[in-house]
Amino acid sequence: MAYKINQITVLGSGIMGHGIAQISAMAGYNVNLRDIEQSFLDKAMDKIKWSINKLVEKQKITPSEAENIINRIHPVVDLEQSLQGSNLVVEAVPEDLNLKKKVYEEIEKFSTADMIFASNTSTLPISEISAFTTRPDKFIGLHFFNPPQLMPLVEIIPGLKTEQQVTELAINLVNEVKKTPILCKKDVPGFIVNRIFIPLVHEAAYCLDRSNASMVEVDSASKYKMGLPMGIFELADYTGMDVIHKATSEMYSRDKKVIFPHPKIQQLYENKELGQKTGKGFYQYQGDNYERVQLTEEAADKFDPIPLVSVAVNNASWLISNEVCNREELEKALKLGMGLKRELFTTAETIGIGNIINTLKTLQTNYGTFYEPDKYLLSFQK
Ligand code: 3HC
Repeated sequence: MAYKINQITVLGSGIMGHGIAQISAMAGYNVNLRDIEQSFLDKAMDKIKWSINKLVEKQKITPSEAENIINRIHPVVDLEQSLQGSNLVVEAVPEDLNLKKKVYEEIEKFSTADMIFASNTSTLPISEISAFTTRPDKFIGLHFFNPPQLMPLVEIIPGLKTEQQVTELAINLVNEVKKTPILCKKDVPGFIVNRIFIPLVHEAAYCLDRSNASMVEVDSASKYKMGLPMGIFELADYTGMDVIHKATSEMYSRDKKVIFPHPKIQQLYENKELGQKTGKGFYQYQGDNYERVQLTEEAADKFDPIPLVSVAVNNASWLISNEVCNREELEKALKLGMGLKRELFTTAETIGIGNIINTLKTLQTNYGTFYEPDKYLLSFQK
């Protein structure tokens, strides 16, 4: 049976949920946006209106289209009501396996048999989450990037039991919302992009301990020497320390090789210094609205980002060695999911793969096996 989406329910109205609701409505879908408190939904609708206004200002949409888009999004607190009439649920609740289990058990009660569940999990294996449901065949990972309104990538992650037709439906949906799908061929912790991004936040924190560089210098080097559009600390604050911390714990609990946690992230999380959304994270902000950190080329000159490039390219190599994606898909994912302006392997080759391997070996001697160079990287030396 070929599936067709009539209406979408998005569960969770946070940074990702509200953006996913918005782009779905922009593609013409009626969307029920569900959260547990009206105040969360009010905030989400304010953010949607801000984003839509930006798109009108830039003449990407007309004022009348803007009105129609907003009218297609229905904020709802009642779970049963939010699911009525929908045949696709996109779950974007916080990254906590127990919470996801509770949510899926609840929605099962009100879901029709043919309802498709898609999780926007950033790191949790799809096969593990789908095991909480009666429909692992109709369950898929649909991983959007922040801000969903602007980032063109969606990683598609089929679980072990996902039906081929559900994967095809997901690919079609991603194309319909004018994004680019990349299929993650193995359901590994962090999928493709987060396996690079989340460990980089920790490595950037280690760079502060192991050098005299300041946050702005590390961030400026990430921007001007690695080609990231935002500094790594800036991006962590923008993503939210709750997301980074939970993704870290979930990834680390499954695979010690993927990430080397720095205590600073947990500390910020416990202090509720979650980043831009709370006005303070690594940096201080005026409020919780979109705001950038001032980074400069002069500051970039003061820090050599070789440890950052080394960790990123080593995790990228692991993905290639383990056939999660090939090099071309990896570079495409980093370009579309993180806005990387220069290919990661090109940056590594400019530094010299030999230098990268030596850096990793020294880090391995000093700090342990997380830094052990991957066989794909080593294969460049043969
Ligand atoms: N909707 C509409 N417009 C928006 C917007 C939104 N949600 N967010 C920002 N904008 C606007 C800005 O206000 C600005 O408008 P202006 O020109 O009127 O001032 C415009 O977009 C451009 O923004 P910037 O001037 O800040 O310039 P950039 O060229 O740097 O673009 C960006 C902004 C697209 C956010 C870019 O910095 C970027 O790509 N950053 C990296 C983001 C990233 O890596 N995301 C992935 C994180 S990992 C993830 O999400 C996975 C999860 O599982 C953890």
